[in-house]
Amino acid sequence: MARTKIKELLVGDFLDTKVTIKGWVRTFRNNQFIALNDGSTIENIQVVVDFENTEPSLLKRLTTSACISVEGKITASQGKGQKVEMIAEKLEILGDSDAEAYPLQPKKHSLEFLREIAHLRFRTNTFSAVFRVRNALSYAIHKFFQERGFVYIHSPIITGSDAEGAGEMFKVTTLDPKTVSLLDTGGVDYSVDFFEKETHLTVSGQLEAELAALALGDVYTFGPTFRAENSNTSRHLAEFWMIEPECAFNDLEDNMDLAESLLKYCIKYALDECAEDIQFLNSRLAEEEKSKPQLERAEMGLLEKLQFCLDHSFERLTYSEAIEVLKNSTPNKKKKFKYLIEEWGADLQSEHERYLVEKHFKKPVILTDYPKEIKAFYMRQNDDGKTVRAMDILFPGIGEIVGGSQREERLEKLIERMEQMDVPVEELSWYLDTRRFGTCPHAGFGLGFERLVLFVTGMTNIRDVIPFPRTPGNAEF
Ligand code: 4AD
Ligand code: MG
Repeated sequence: MARTKIKELLVGDFLDTKVTIKGWVRTFRNNQFIALNDGSTIENIQVVVDFENTEPSLLKRLTTSACISVEGKITASQGKGQKVEMIAEKLEILGDSDAEAYPLQPKKHSLEFLREIAHLRFRTNTFSAVFRVRNALSYAIHKFFQERGFVYIHSPIITGSDAEGAGEMFKVTTLDPKTVSLLDTGGVDYSVDFFEKETHLTVSGQLEAELAALALGDVYTFGPTFRAENSNTSRHLAEFWMIEPECAFNDLEDNMDLAESLLKYCIKYALDECAEDIQFLNSRLAEEEKSKPQLERAEMGLLEKLQFCLDHSFERLTYSEAIEVLKNSTPNKKKKFKYLIEEWGADLQSEHERYLVEKHFKKPVILTDYPKEIKAFYMRQNDDGKTVRAMDILFPGIGEIVGGSQREERLEKLIERMEQMDVPVEELSWYLDTRRFGTCPHAGFGLGFERLVLFVTGMTNIRDVIPFPRTPGNAEF
């Protein structure tokens, strides 16, 4: 008999029908009640075993995490907590699980502990919920763009350029460090390397997306990106997924509108499609908040926060306006910020971003028109000679979730800025060709996928929303 997924069983009309289900034992109570989970939903189904007529040796093997297949009839449940249950008729063990050795006990484990056994954490309620939500969000992203006629572009993972000019890249090489040949200048001779030049893992697909946008109109990328920045924080990964739309003919206003609707669309999609999972994560977070001192507790629960985000438009203001707010803020005056805001031009730290979002405006914020010194070379220069058409979207509990800009489409201005910033003009000649041949105003942004998943799941550490996190000192599994 083909297997029926538990999710279907719980919503469909299966009363009095005979089905086969397969899954992993969560608990086995009174030698009679199995709570079975197959990953299709956070809910378990209760399987009732006729223990008097079952081999004791078989009953003994119904341990936590054993994998079983059961055939039986679905009936209305006698007990509390579930509408239907299965009366087992045929029970088969597919895979035993040694209860003594199994690291996950049916009790609460810390997220830190679960991170060490990331290969098994899928089997917990929390992580199965997180990864179903992550799945729904990635589908929502494609759905959003596909419904609007965007073309999905696969930008390369291995590149010969540094899109952000930040120099935080992982090298890609087949050279053996023990026998590597050096040039007279002391540098490594990459001409004998696999690609016959120096290559890296991409930090962003933006430059390639721009090439595509200036022919296809509206495009987006959605893929892994890599940063060798040594930031051991709860918001940074060395390998993370990024969504980068790029649109010909868009200006910064259009760019902000697109980003705001994308974020709202994804949040709404997850709320609609993953209602039980988010409900579960909402309770999980509420429970966790209880253990914090009153002052540190979040003002809103997860569900409330997500709904709030859907119901309100994001606050839009310029960097210069934000600096005024920060300069006059209580934590700045009372010297509570680690980095005090003293003058225009200061780079904003996450403490400042979070103050603006969580304390001052109390909603998502879009900051625009940053000083050109703290932004990348490709951003469109404003007439004031000081600022660029940049935008960052800041979210409560997260800080920066989106970074983007209108691009500098004027060839001379772009070259001038590249030279000022020591970006190699010759090497990026292919990029400049878009400005040489039929340039046009265009804009785009990058959305950090894990930061979106963090926001929607209410998890607090980015390591807990990607199956196998890569961070400084950690590339386990
Ligand atoms: O602000 P970033 O560096 O922008 C770019 O890479 C542009 N090329 C995007 C574009 O305009 N097409 O990164 C974009 C977003 C950030 O806002 C953040 O959400 C996420 O990517 N991000 C990270 N997420 C996890 N770990 C890291 N180390 C991240 N670095 C950036
Ligand atoms: Mg940024």
